[in-house]
Order: sequence, then structure tokens, then C-alpha cells
Amino acid sequence: MLRSVSDLDDIQYYGKKVLVRVDFNVSIDNGLVTEDYRIRSAIPTIEYLVKRGAKVILASHLGRPKYRNHNNSLAPVAVRLKEILNRKVDFINDCIGTEVHTKIEKLNYGSILLLENLRYYSEEQNNDPEFCKSISSLADIYVNDAFSTSHRKHASTYGAVKNFDIRLSGFSLIKEIEYLSMIRYNPRKPFTLVIGGSKIKDKIGALENLLPKADKLLIGGGAAYTFLKAKGFKIGNSLFDEEHFDWVKSALSSFGEKILLPLDHIVSSEENSFSTVSGDIPDGMCGFDIGNETSRIYSSEIGGNGFGTIFWNGPMGMFEVGQFAGGTMDVAKSMALAFWRGAMTLVGGGDTIAALKKSGVSESEVTHLSTGGGATLRFLAGDKMPGIEALEQVN
Ligand code: 3PG
Repeated sequence: MLRSVSDLDDIQYYGKKVLVRVDFNVSIDNGLVTEDYRIRSAIPTIEYLVKRGAKVILASHLGRPKYRNHNNSLAPVAVRLKEILNRKVDFINDCIGTEVHTKIEKLNYGSILLLENLRYYSEEQNNDPEFCKSISSLADIYVNDAFSTSHRKHASTYGAVKNFDIRLSGFSLIKEIEYLSMIRYNPRKPFTLVIGGSKIKDKIGALENLLPKADKLLIGGGAAYTFLKAKGFKIGNSLFDEEHFDWVKSALSSFGEKILLPLDHIVSSEENSFSTVSGDIPDGMCGFDIGNETSRIYSSEIGGNGFGTIFWNGPMGMFEVGQFAGGTMDVAKSMALAFWRGAMTLVGGGDTIAALKKSGVSESEVTHLSTGGGATLRFLAGDKMPGIEALEQVN
């Protein structure tokens, strides 16, 4: 059983040091945050604690730095957070040690401090016991509001958590668990899966869990070509995943009647030249997007499901390039249409969220936008989530 931040009496927060593990692993360009969905997702928890007079200490990673360096600093995130909250946010250029303790002691009740990148210490990812102690010595109460990093068994998501008597789940974490559990255990029917992106490997666990429950699986992106090859089509130079070819063949033989594959493709043999082909992809050509006919069929499958559940993970093609963006943009727009017609729509994965943004579909036109990439797929696969498990061990 998880305890949420709202399960404690307000008075229990007053003057208490509360360490909130957030996932502020966001895109930063030239010292400016370019995508802040993960930051905004943590706002309800932060404001809840601030209003109750807690000293709110925010801890996160940013990227996978091998050493301390300016490009992986969370300083720009503190600036963005301050803009969003319209209140003071302190930042300190370390996450453990005497100076951090002194800074926390001096904080006013109801104020916010963002610590520097946890991954400047390799001990964070190694779940080092001494580092765990340093982290847990910073606060009285622990809160996890970082679903998207809860699949990691790191010091701040796992090892240090068990040192706290009071460990709670934040509002964003709870929301993620509720929506994704609905898909995992009891999706409202008809249930449509839309899977794209290039890597089949990352999606196998989730697909094994979800395919038996799904009514339709629409496949696009690089992943589609391995499926097409298994069906006997020529795929030219398109992406082929030999390692998972057997899995693809067995998925087609068990669930083939539910699986829709692209009928036509936008292909290219060299930069700036592209054309549409149906069926086989000629030698020397490479598929970069689903074709118009496929796009029309997929859009009508998605947009026509106004009663059930639709989960979308992974773009239909190389949407960053204008000529290859059409299929992904059409899928994004038909997701919005399904939402307006009453479907429960869920979107996960950094690329997919970027694609949604590019299409002009707003966040409010999706039932739930998951902050997680890998974490979402792992949760849907039924894998252990150390960050959530650690919270469940309530004393
Ligand atoms: C993510 O972006 O998926 C999370 O922040 C986790 O990051 P990681 O894959 O580097 O652990």
C-alpha cells in the first residue's frame, strides 16, 4: 500500500525538511529549458508541501554525466521552476555535504531548494550505501514524485528511501500509477495500441502484456519493417532487427489478426529525394514514414475509437524531418479526435510527446501524458519498479 503526500496531517509538514525526488531530466539548450512538462508535472506536490510550511528540497538527475560539467547542471531548471511558480527557488551547486546541510538549516519554512545533479556522483547510480546515508541525512520525510525514473535502483530512488520512516508518493507518481494500471489491468474496450519508434526490444515486455488485451495493434516507425519482413515483404535498406526477428514472427502467428502493418511507405535513397511505394520496398531504398494510405487507415482506426482506450508510444517515422513527419502528425491529430469523441487516450515517451507538440495537439487534448519513457514501458511490462517498491515498505 502506498501512502500519498495527502495522507499525512498538515501539521506533520510544518517546519519539516521534505526531500522530493523529482525527474527534472529535461531538454536544455544554450542554458534554457526547452521542454518543461516534467517540471510542470511536479508542481502540485511542490505547492502542496510549500503551503504546509515544509522546507522543500528537490533532488533530480539530468542526463548521464561521467563527471561534473556545466552542460548537466540543474541551474537552468531552477530558473524555469521559479518562472512557473512565480516564487523564489534556491539552488545549490551540490547535493550532499556540509554546505548543503547548512543551506537547508537556514531555509525558511515553506521555501524551495533545488539540489545539483545527483549523477555528478557515480555513487547515485551505484546505489552506494554511504551516499544513500548522505542523501537521507538531508531530510525528515521522503517523497517520490519521479515516476519516470522509478525503474532505476539508484540511491535517491531506492537505497536512501529505506532510511526514511516516512516515505510517500507524490501526486504525479500516483496519477501515473493510476492511469498506467488501468491500461495494464483493465483497459476500457475497444483497446487500441499504436506503437512506433525504432527499437522493438524496449517494447517487447509491454507488448507481451498488452497484446492479449488489445483489440488492435497499429505498428509504424522503424519497428514496422521487421514485422513486414516476417510477413514476406521486401524492406530494402530499412531498419531490420534480426535479434528480435523470432519474437516478431511468434507475435504475428499468435496475434496476427489484430496487427495492422503499413501498406505503403515514404521512402528515400538519398537526402532530399523521397517517394511513396506500396507493398515491397525496392532494394537501395529505405522507409522513413508510413505512406498516405496507411496514414488514412491508422487515423480512421484511432479517431474512430471514441469509446475505448488508446495507448500511443513511438513516432510513425522520422518526424523531425519535414518530408517524413506526415504519418506521425496524422496519428497525433487523430489521437486528439478520439479524445474529443470520448476515448481514454494515453501517450508515453519523450519522442512521442515531442511529436504531439509538433503537431499542434495540446496536452489538454490527451487524457494522460506519461512523463516516462523507459519507465512507462517497464511498468506496462509488469517489471519491478524499485522506486515504487521502496515506498511500499511502510513501517
Ligand atoms: C528518462 O529520461 O527516461 C528518465 O529521466 C530516466 O533517465 P535514465 O534512462 O538516464 O535513467
